[in-house]
Amino acid sequence: MNPPPVTELEIVPLDVHDRDAFDEWHGVYLAAEQACGELVGAPWQLEEVRAMMQDTGSRAWSAGFSGRVDGEVVSVGWLRTPMLDNLDRAEVAVHTAPAHARRGYGAAMLAHVERVAVERGRTVLVGGVAWPYDLGPEGAGSPGRELARRAGYDLALGDVKRMLRLPVPAGLLEDLAAEAAAHHPGYELRSFVGPVPEELVAGWARLDSLVETEAPTGELAIEPASADPAVVREQEALLAAQGRTSYHAVALAPDGEVVAFSHVVATVHEPGRAYQWGTLVDRRARGRRLGLAVKVENLRLLQAEAPDVTTVSTYNAETNTHMIAVNERLGFEPVARLGEFQMCTSGPSSRGPEGRARSSSRATDEGGRDRRIEAP
Ligand SMILES: CC(C)(COP(=O)(O)OP(=O)(O)OC[C@H]1O[C@@H](n2cnc3c(N)ncnc32)[C@H](O)[C@@H]1OP(=O)(O)O)[C@@H](O)C(=O)NCCC(=O)NCCS
Repeated sequence: MNPPPVTELEIVPLDVHDRDAFDEWHGVYLAAEQACGELVGAPWQLEEVRAMMQDTGSRAWSAGFSGRVDGEVVSVGWLRTPMLDNLDRAEVAVHTAPAHARRGYGAAMLAHVERVAVERGRTVLVGGVAWPYDLGPEGAGSPGRELARRAGYDLALGDVKRMLRLPVPAGLLEDLAAEAAAHHPGYELRSFVGPVPEELVAGWARLDSLVETEAPTGELAIEPASADPAVVREQEALLAAQGRTSYHAVALAPDGEVVAFSHVVATVHEPGRAYQWGTLVDRRARGRRLGLAVKVENLRLLQAEAPDVTTVSTYNAETNTHMIAVNERLGFEPVARLGEFQMCTSGPSSRGPEGRARSSSRATDEGGRDRRIEAP
């Protein structure tokens, strides 16, 4: 980590229950995201972030920071530390109001957030940076990338954001479903809106916990998430508080086990848009076109239940060829990129043999992720 730059920025912790302070903090974040470009930035809306930051669930601890100059908030920071898994990891984000860019505030805020992360015992710091698709996989020149590189972070994984315009013609979905069905006789598809039914929740929790590590992880030092059904219920309660609705499709093996799922989330705070969250096929069930099957099934559900939704966005590792092939058949098109930057400070998770041993660059899995689950 570089020493913090000297600026006149006064950094104070955000009181997430102070409505005015929270609104101002979010306003800076939103303006900075919007300045990235309409398809590049993907800001969480005010009430989604407020509910998440006020949540006292067991999964993670989070905090915000406001950086003021002459009383005005000009730069904001965010920190999240998982509490059930990935105990060496911290997710960091900084945003500077476009009118105050390039005065050292972002770098000062980042240094502050890093200090708090290290105080909390975290040694693997990660942050996502978005840039236009045409800028290429390295994102040279993008402000976030340049800031991250200068602060000592490396690009650990390159993702591409793709968008699908709805409705997908019913005939295409029917053809794709029929094509997939020929490869998975004996497997049952189910779809549902809202919480996962009780009889499926243990199996669903197990698969969902693997999404982050079964999809290509590049150089990210990351381990599977908790698979506790109680945590799924906590997450569902938070989604409800955020005004979000889940659309799910799962595939059940002949023995009833959940072996594939796809999860899409829409929010009342952003009408018309939905976001693809996880998609995963269990290793034991691959090769049966279940990834395509659950995605098609879920799109049918979404189109029937939420006809006002006109776009679905998804993020995939650039190397995730299987998932991307499925997405392209459905009509998803690339619109932006997201770099996942990482810096390992010290301890057993440092960059090096141990850190690398847990990561891989496989390109074989039907895993899809949505970074919106991780960071506002
Ligand atoms: C990235 C961001 C936080 C930078 O904020 P900022 O206050 O303007 O950044 P700073 O003035 O502290 O810049 C620090 C260094 O980052 C790099 N940098 C920042 N903006 C840059 C730009 N537009 N072009 C090239 N380099 C840039 C430079 O190395 C800069 O040092 P320098 O000015 O001495 O050359 C801001 O552009 C932003 O909010 N972007 C959207 C969100 C984002 O990508 N956040 C980062 C990851 S979560």
